[in-house]
Amino acid sequence: MTRIAVFGAGAIGCWVGGRLAAGGSDVTLIGRPRVMAELARGIEVTELGGGSWHATPTLATDAAAAKDADIVLVTVKSAATAEAGAELARAIGAQALVASFQNGVRNAPTLRAALPGRVVLAGMVAYNVARVGPGRYHRGTTGELVVEAHPRAELLVAACRQAGLAIEPRADIAAVQWGKLVMNLNNAINALSGRPLALQLADRDFRRCLAAAQREALDVLAAAELPVARLLALPPRWIVRLLPMPDWAFRLIAERVAGVDPDARSSMADDFAAGRPTEVDYLQGEIVALADRANVPAPVNRALVELVHAAEAGGRRDYTGAELLASLRAVTAPTA
Ligand SMILES: NC(=O)c1ccc[n+]([C@@H]2O[C@H](COP(=O)([O-])OP(=O)(O)OC[C@H]3O[C@@H](n4cnc5c(N)ncnc54)[C@H](OP(=O)(O)O)[C@@H]3O)[C@@H](O)[C@H]2O)c1
Repeated sequence: MTRIAVFGAGAIGCWVGGRLAAGGSDVTLIGRPRVMAELARGIEVTELGGGSWHATPTLATDAAAAKDADIVLVTVKSAATAEAGAELARAIGAQALVASFQNGVRNAPTLRAALPGRVVLAGMVAYNVARVGPGRYHRGTTGELVVEAHPRAELLVAACRQAGLAIEPRADIAAVQWGKLVMNLNNAINALSGRPLALQLADRDFRRCLAAAQREALDVLAAAELPVARLLALPPRWIVRLLPMPDWAFRLIAERVAGVDPDARSSMADDFAAGRPTEVDYLQGEIVALADRANVPAPVNRALVELVHAAEAGGRRDYTGAELLASLRAVTAPTA
């Protein structure tokens, strides 16, 4: 039986780890005491469309529990990755395969630096997961897992397939991660709206904000000659053109492109609620940093970084679409 440790078991770690445990892998979830305490009677994992699983993984709060793992999945937020790597370096064996299932583009390199000699693969989670009650985690959107193509990835792919968990190995993982980052530019907009994703995306002004952020990001990535993978049925540039369409037309197309639960939210909204720092510096911040290096403008994403930092410090998190769009138009003139 494949031994899998999940380091930083929160929304993603509990959901993916719960599915892998329900699918027959020997899973150890390693997380904070407050999170693990809720799982004493097992974990309930559900998904959009009605799937439901119950599992009783081993629970731990210390990296030492990953000692014998064949595979270690890292699912902490980006700011905690360096510390996670340092803790795992003291605990895991030389043969353990490490996979980062985190947003952003820096986490796998950060783990590689902390874990010399180990195989560390980049990964991507295309869906949204939320804690919906004590010990209960729900996947609220469609999508699958992606892992960097590598001969050592086969063990993880087999464990996922045994659990009925869709996973795709990709050779173009960097382009996949940039594609996800472009989609994740909505995290900040969603969190600043204070609304569920479905409600936020139903508002044309919020979609204009997202179109402006994504168009700018795609221009910056093109200037930096970084390829961006298509992760939805439509290419990223088409999505930018579709976002500002009237509500009725957008609704018709969106239903065909991706499913979203009425309650699903970006986890950045949860970070505001919990008083935690967000990942905005690893999302919008990456675009701003790239733009600065390529000497091209990125006023929309720069403004969103500032608004999120202001919200982290207790500022507004209840913008209407019109208000947020006006803030972004004050720093540029988006044509969306
Ligand atoms: N949630 C989603 O829908 C979603 C979807 C796709 C991708 N992602 C990405 O997946 C990653 C994880 O997101 P998430 O939403 O699952 O985050 P999360 O719910 O905050 O889970 C991470 C957990 O790891 C814990 N942790 C951090 N450092 C630790 C350590 N040294 N030892 C033990 N536990 C530690 C955190 O505790 P503290 O909070 O106390 O530090 C937290 O409970 C992020 O990069 C995110 O962007 C999330």
